[in-house]
Amino acid sequence: MDHGASASMPAADSLGLPRGLPLPALSRLQNHGRAGQFVGRLQAAPVSLPLLPGKPATTFWAYNGQIPGPAIVAWEGDEVNIAFANTLQQPSTIHWHGMPVPAEQDGNPHAPVLPGQQRTYRFELAAGSAASYWYHPHPHGHTAQQAYMGLAGVFVVKSHDDPLAHLPEQWLVLSDLKLDAHGQIADNSAADRHDGREGQFLLVNGGWQPVIALAEGERQRWRIWNASSARILKLALPAHEVDLVGTDGGLIATPRRIDSLLLSPGERAEIVITGRFTPGQPSALLALPYHRGKAMSPEQDDSLTLATIRQAGNKATATLPDKLRDITPLGAPALKRVVNFSENMADPAAMFLINGKKFDMNRVDFSGKVGQIEEWDIVSQAHMDHPFHLHGTQFQVQARTEDGVWQTEPFLAWRDVVNIPAGETVRLRFVQGMPGLRMFHCHILEHEDAGMMAMLDVG
Ligand code: C2O
Ligand code: CU
Repeated sequence: MDHGASASMPAADSLGLPRGLPLPALSRLQNHGRAGQFVGRLQAAPVSLPLLPGKPATTFWAYNGQIPGPAIVAWEGDEVNIAFANTLQQPSTIHWHGMPVPAEQDGNPHAPVLPGQQRTYRFELAAGSAASYWYHPHPHGHTAQQAYMGLAGVFVVKSHDDPLAHLPEQWLVLSDLKLDAHGQIADNSAADRHDGREGQFLLVNGGWQPVIALAEGERQRWRIWNASSARILKLALPAHEVDLVGTDGGLIATPRRIDSLLLSPGERAEIVITGRFTPGQPSALLALPYHRGKAMSPEQDDSLTLATIRQAGNKATATLPDKLRDITPLGAPALKRVVNFSENMADPAAMFLINGKKFDMNRVDFSGKVGQIEEWDIVSQAHMDHPFHLHGTQFQVQARTEDGVWQTEPFLAWRDVVNIPAGETVRLRFVQGMPGLRMFHCHILEHEDAGMMAMLDVG
C-alpha cells in the first residue's frame, strides 16, 4: 500500500498557497442575532482559488467561499440558528461534530438537503458544553468527497467561566490537500478508498507551513483540529513545553505535560504551549512518523513540518492553573455492548464492517435509552487503525489494551473520537441526553462512506 505522492503531482514548492506568512487567519461567520442568539448562514458552493502558477485555478467546494469554512464562535446558553443553502450538484447536510444537538438537527444522512435547497439548523448550547467542535457534511455516501473538496469549519463554544481565558489563543485546523497533475483536487484512488485518503500537502488553516510567533516564556492556548479524512497525526513541538489541557469535549481536570499528541481524524485537542527556544531543537509543530497498522507502511518516514514557530521576544510566563474543571466519572453501566471493527478485503462491495455488517440506512443496529449509562468495547479485528466516533454525546474512555494487555485510562476526559489501533480494544462509557437516531462510525471518511457506520436508536 503506497502512501507516497506520485511523481505526476505538483510539488509543494510550486504551490501558490501562502507560505512563510503569518498564520492565515480564520475568518468568522458574522452573527446576526441578538444577545443570547447566534444567527448565521452557510452556503456550500464551488469556488476557484489560484494555487499553481500557469495552471487553471483549483476548484474547491467551500462554505461561504472560504477554506476552511468560517469559524463559528458562540457562547454556552446561546440559541443557534444557522441557515444552510446547498448549491452543490449533490445532496449535503451539516453535521455539528461533537455537539450535543437534537438528532433531527444533527445533519444525519437521513435528512439530506437536496441541490438548490435550504434548511435551518436550530439548537441550544447547554451549560458545560464549552469546547472546540467542528462542522462538516454527512450525506449518505458523499461525506469523504465533500470534506476533501473543502467543506469543513470550526465551531468554538465559549464559557464565561474559563480558567484559561487570560491566555492568547491560536486556532489550527489541520487538513490534507491532494492535487492531480492539473492542479485540481484529485479523485480518490483505489488505495485512498482502502487506506484512507492522504494528500501531498498538510495544511494549517488552508495555508502551507505558516509561521507562528511565540515569545520565550510566553504561554499560548492552542486549539487543534484534525480535519483530514484519514491521516492520524502524532504531533510534537520538540523545543517547547506542552501541556494537554483539553480534548474533544472541552477542558480536562488538570493540565498534563506531554511529549507528543496522537490526534486521529475528527479529533481535537487543546494544549498550552510555553515558549522555550532550545538551541539544536527544531522550533516547529511536527507530525512524527506513525504506524497506523500492522500491514501498513508509516504515513510518512520522516517528520513533517506543519508550522514553524518564530521567537518574538521574551514575555513573562502567565499562570497555568492546576485545576481546570470538574469531571465526574460515569458510574457503573446499565448495559454493555461490543462493537467490532473488521475488514473484508475480499469483498469490494462490503469491505469495512461494524459487527460484520455494512451500514444500512434502514437498519437500527442498537436501541438505547435517554439517561442510561452504556459501556462499549470497541474491538478491532482489523489490520489498520480506525478512529471511532459517536454522535449525540461525549464519552469517557475507561481503559484500553496495549499489545492486548488492559491499561486503565490515566485521566478523565470527554471525547467523541478515539483511535482504535489495529488489533486493540478501547472501552468507553457514555450517556445519551436526547432521543433519536445516533450514528457511530469510523472517522476515516472513506471508510464511513464504504459502510463502516451503524445506528443507535435512543428512545
Ligand atoms: Cu465528524 Cu459522523 O462525523
Ligand atoms: Cu476506518
